[in-house]
Amino acid sequence: MDCEDMATGPEPSPGTKGQMEKRKFKVLLFLIFISIIGILVVVHMYSHTYYIQAPPAKRAPPPIKALSAKNVKIPEASYSITPIGNSKHFMVSAFIDHRLDGVIQVISIINRNSLQPLYCVYCSARQVCKTVYTDVQIHSDHFGYPYGASDVICKGEHMQHATHVLITNEKGSADLKMEYLPIKNKVVQETFKFNFTVCISSLFGGYNNVLQFAQTMEMYKLLGVQHVVIYNTSCGPDLEKLLKHYETEGMLEIVSWPIDKFLNPSRGWDIRLHKGDIQYYGQLVTLNECIYRHMYQSKYILLNDIDEIIMPYKHASLPPLMEDLQSAHPNIGVFLIENHIFPKTQFEESGKFKRAEWKNIPGVNIMEHIYREPPQKNVYNPTKMIVNPRKVQQTSVHSTLKDLGGSFHVPFDVCRIVHVRVPLQAHLTKEQLFVDRRIWDFEQKLIQNIDQTLKLSGFL
Ligand SMILES: *[C@@H]1O[C@H](CO)[C@@H](O)[C@H](O)[C@H]1NC(C)=O
Ligand SMILES: *[C@@H]1O[C@H](CO)[C@@H](O)[C@H](O)[C@H]1NC(C)=O
Repeated sequence: MDCEDMATGPEPSPGTKGQMEKRKFKVLLFLIFISIIGILVVVHMYSHTYYIQAPPAKRAPPPIKALSAKNVKIPEASYSITPIGNSKHFMVSAFIDHRLDGVIQVISIINRNSLQPLYCVYCSARQVCKTVYTDVQIHSDHFGYPYGASDVICKGEHMQHATHVLITNEKGSADLKMEYLPIKNKVVQETFKFNFTVCISSLFGGYNNVLQFAQTMEMYKLLGVQHVVIYNTSCGPDLEKLLKHYETEGMLEIVSWPIDKFLNPSRGWDIRLHKGDIQYYGQLVTLNECIYRHMYQSKYILLNDIDEIIMPYKHASLPPLMEDLQSAHPNIGVFLIENHIFPKTQFEESGKFKRAEWKNIPGVNIMEHIYREPPQKNVYNPTKMIVNPRKVQQTSVHSTLKDLGGSFHVPFDVCRIVHVRVPLQAHLTKEQLFVDRRIWDFEQKLIQNIDQTLKLSGFL
């Protein structure tokens, strides 16, 4: 039978009507059968390609039933604290470290008294998971507390395709119901959303210093900072209102940091004075997390406390300061800035900044405190830092622990920290302190902007 015959069918023979109907029915059945086979073959081929070919780069692969992404639990607050299996350790967040050949670096909190092998389970978007051993590197600065900031390093094949990861202490126990961390910094960026980001390591207790916070934020804006990040454990009711304002306005990123739900954090850095599981609300963990998180988002990161202002004294703002420093020291990635204390107990004489508008705002008015303590002899005067995050591997509070370009101590007369707080040398009289009115140079614009903010946030 040739093709034409098949298409047209045989000539109707002079048989009975019933015979003809039967034959038509058979042909119809045959056609339906052929169509079903055809559809099945196409469907099979199509679905087969999904499994054997990588999905096109720009299109996400379709969810594969029973292994769909919905089955993987990724914590809601992606940068929070997640317990590691049945261990005393915690994982915080995961990044590709392009400086270490693209390994996955999981910033973690490790209990130094319960060391054990840990495994890393990393999965691609198509739910292909691999398990490898980890290299746990506890940062050398833990100040003697049992828990320390740590890098848990996962090295394996095809890490560049991994989208999420978890650390576990039981090999082979991982399943898709456990909490995975999304992997960040997958792609190296050469241009940045921000030039200057400030990372504030921890906010806790009932801290309610509204006026100083608003003044500091507005000062930072004038100095060229575009982004401020705060790790929030808790704060006072008025400051809460101001934080919400800055978050809505877009300058402030608040990272939830409920460390007190998991551990007993110390309220200071000295274990002899401040007992606890981990130093100062996990400050070292958050500082490192902030650096990795902004590695490809910010050209520079300022690491300082909530009541500290890194202040240029020879430049109008941070951009020209860093331009000069960086061109004089092209390879340096860490700039150390001296901390200087401006006691909040010493007031300037004229009283011109005792403004009626600020009378009922809780907190310290930094514009009234222009007396600076002299550096103490034979005492280490701590520094804070401006860093290029792409050159930092591990950081502590006053210096880095591992970096790629060395550090430079910025001269005191070029840049220093204005730190208004309780005095360190309370016995000194006003005459023994230096007058330092740098903040007044910004007076006009600064006051205008502070008032504007206090109005918008409902304080005025
Ligand atoms: C960062 O600085 C460069 C020049 O130094 C400037 O062109 C760019 O607009 C700045 N970015 C932001 C977000 O301000
Ligand atoms: C800071 O954290 C506390 C405790 O979780 C929370 O009640 C508060 O709303 C947070 N504040 C902001 C501004 O996110």
